[in-house]
Amino acid sequence: MDILECINSKRSIRAYTDEIISEETLMNLIELGTKVSTGSGMEPWGFVIIKNKDEIDSLSETSKKYLLENLEKYPYLHQYEEWLKSPEYSIFNHANTLLLIYGNTESHWYVYDCSLAAGNIMLAAHSMEIGTCWIGFAEHTLNTKEFKEKHGVPEQYELVCPMSMGYMKTKLTPPKRKEPIIFSK
Ligand SMILES: Cc1cc2nc3c(=O)[nH]c(=O)nc-3n(C[C@H](O)[C@H](O)[C@H](O)COP(=O)(O)O)c2cc1C
Repeated sequence: MDILECINSKRSIRAYTDEIISEETLMNLIELGTKVSTGSGMEPWGFVIIKNKDEIDSLSETSKKYLLENLEKYPYLHQYEEWLKSPEYSIFNHANTLLLIYGNTESHWYVYDCSLAAGNIMLAAHSMEIGTCWIGFAEHTLNTKEFKEKHGVPEQYELVCPMSMGYMKTKLTPPKRKEPIIFSK
């Protein structure tokens, strides 16, 4: 796929087939993610891959419970209360793979660098018919001390991007956006 077509057609995908993303493909995507620019050349990223469906479902339930119990701390999530209350709703949209990007806080630039890496991975995945979605709903659950310890993430790494992924079940139309605001030209 041509790079401009890739950028122009990439959407957040929330419906996936059962096809498993191979280890080789995941490692290739991560490698492509790390080709981005990186503040002071620090490459502050680290990754966790989760492919265990039971763990993914359980993380969704834990995240929903936590958010519903703490909704007052997250005014920008009030609009999603009904989704979070629905027993059928999986915050990961029943994806069979999660790719989590953590940033080393020893680099001042870790949020920017890891977000750029996430963008590269999303675009590269799109070109391989793999859909991705950034899952902000998971940002607390996947950044707890307990979760990080379980997955070998050192304390000084903070979660930047929780991403669900899977082969696309359906293709969406290209994104529509508002006119960009140009403050001056
Ligand atoms: C920081 C961030 C957090 C997001 N969190 C969620 C989320 O928790 N759940 C979800 O389904 N989509 C989430 N999204 C996807 C957005 O809803 C989506 O990008 C937006 O609606 C535009 O749609 P598009 O990406 O298909 O163009 C998130 C996107 C970003 C960049």
